[in-house]
Parts: sequence; C-alpha cells; structure tokens
Amino acid sequence: MADKKLTSQTAIVTGANSGIGEGVALALGNEGANVIVNYVTNPDAANAVVEKIKSFGGNAIAIKADVSNEGEVINMFQQTIAQFGTVDILVNNAGLQKDARLHEMTLAQWQLVIDINLTGQFLCAREAIKEFLRRGIVPERSVACGKIICMSSVHEMIPWAGHANYATSKGGIKMLMQTMAQEYGREKIRVNSICPGAIKTPINTAAWSTPEAYNSLMNLIPYNRIGVPEDIGKLAVFLSSDDSDYITGASIFIDGGMTVFEGFATGG
Ligand SMILES: NC(=O)c1ccc[n+]([C@@H]2O[C@H](COP(=O)([O-])OP(=O)(O)OC[C@H]3O[C@@H](n4cnc5c(N)ncnc54)[C@H](O)[C@@H]3O)[C@@H](O)[C@H]2O)c1
Repeated sequence: MADKKLTSQTAIVTGANSGIGEGVALALGNEGANVIVNYVTNPDAANAVVEKIKSFGGNAIAIKADVSNEGEVINMFQQTIAQFGTVDILVNNAGLQKDARLHEMTLAQWQLVIDINLTGQFLCAREAIKEFLRRGIVPERSVACGKIICMSSVHEMIPWAGHANYATSKGGIKMLMQTMAQEYGREKIRVNSICPGAIKTPINTAAWSTPEAYNSLMNLIPYNRIGVPEDIGKLAVFLSSDDSDYITGASIFIDGGMTVFEGFATGG
C-alpha cells in the first residue's frame, strides 16, 4: 500500500519476542516493513509475533541469535539478506538487567549486562552499517542509506542506584549512538536513540504489578501513567521513516515527563 511509511523496507528488531521489541516489530510490520523478529529464548513467542504481523498482511520471519555473540549476529544478517536482499532499518532493542548493589555485584553480573546491552548493539550496528554502505541509497524506498535506532533508557541520563551495570550500559549506548551518527552522517546513515521511561513489560514487573508499586512509580511520572510498548512502536516508526529525515544523533526521551524530575514540582 503506497500510503504505508516503510513499504518494502527490511527491519531487524532484536529481542522482538517480548515487551518493547514486540511493540516495535508490530508497528514496523503494520507500516509495510519486512520484519526480522530476533529472539534468543522462547521461539514460540517469536513465532506468535510473526503470525500477528502476517495477520494484518505484513511480512515477517523469526531468526534466533544472541546479540552478544559475534558469529550469531553475522549469521542473522546473512540470513536476512538472503531472504529479503538487504537491511534498511536496525532496531537495537535487546537488553536485560542483573541488579545488585555495587559492592555485591559479581563480575559475571557486570559483564553479562555490558555484553548484551552495549556490545550487542555494537555488533548489530557494525553489520548493519556494512550492509548499508554496500547497498547505497535506494531512493524508491528511502532518502537515507539506512537507519539505526538504539534502545537506550532514561538511565543514559539518570543515575540508578543498585543498577550500575545497566545505567553504565545505557550511558555507553549514548556515546556509541552519537559517534556512529557523526561518523556516518555524510553517508546518509541516520542513528538515533529512544530513551524510554517506565514501560509496562516483563523487565520491570516489580515496578507496576501491585497497586503500592504502581502508586510509588507515579511519583516519578508527571503524566501519571505507565507507558506501553505501543507508545515506543509509534516513535520507532517515525525514526525509521523519512518523516524524521533531519533527525540524527538524537536521544529522544519518551517517559511521561520522568526526566523533568517530578520531585522538584513541590520542592527544591
Ligand atoms: N520496560 C522499560 O521500562 C524500559 C525502560 C527503558 C529502557 N528499556 C529497554 O528496552 C529494551 C527492551 O526491554 P523490555 O522492557 O521490552 O524487556 P523484555 O524483558 O520484555 O524484553 C527484552 C528482550 O531482549 C531479549 N534478549 C535478552 N538478551 C538477549 C540476547 N543476548 N540476544 C537477543 N535478545 C536478547 C529478551 O529475550 C527479550 O525479548 C531493553 O533494552 C531495555 O533496557 C525498557
């Protein structure tokens, strides 16, 4: 359909069988993109996302790859290119938390979060950029040579006690994203970050699943509701499409106002 924003473009969404990744995969598929639903565990959930995209006339396949494993990432890109010819959009979404106070954090907890949340984004972005440069601009599909969206967090800006590994990984994503935007702007590759606040997904169940936790969370959110994956999906469509062609190197906060620091509404 000509009125869809991403017709004939191919998008890899990492960690797309749950939460925000699923919301992004559905939104991109709904706008006409061929979607690679990447997963590492739970293939049934990945296949369910593929089926949902197909049910509204979209095109999708599931590909298993651990984003922190170089060989598996290279293989995912090879499979994608074999199936769809190229990659136009990468959404670096996969991530996890392994929380501990810093003096009790094991090296394994630190390393796992950095490997998946930060090194995983490097590995996927490197393969995407190689493919963008090989293919060049295809004006019928997009005025840009390629688009990368990094799933960051409000915690690229807000320090987070008890989560040093996670906050550090998101701070690292900010610099990785901006450096890639600077390095490849002339080649018409756009790179941006989405920085969600609290979004209702399995990663943060403890923060919203009881009334007490939800009410406490609302003290941090001026707009007074938790976000949902659909909120992020809409922004991912915008950042993937030519509607955002003059946006690169940007961290876009989507957080119901969390980063305007609600605590200062009555104090300070
Ligand atoms: N939910 C929030 O409030 C929130 C806020 C800010 C940022 N984020 C970020 O959004 C992203 C998605 O999180 P979510 O909330 O949807 O959580 P989630 O747990 O529902 O989804 C995370 C996804 O990443 C996948 N994943 C984990 N390790 C992987 C690996 N090695 N290789 C491939 N996939 C892997 C998981 O299987 C899952 O599909 C993460 O980067 C997270 O840091 C979430």
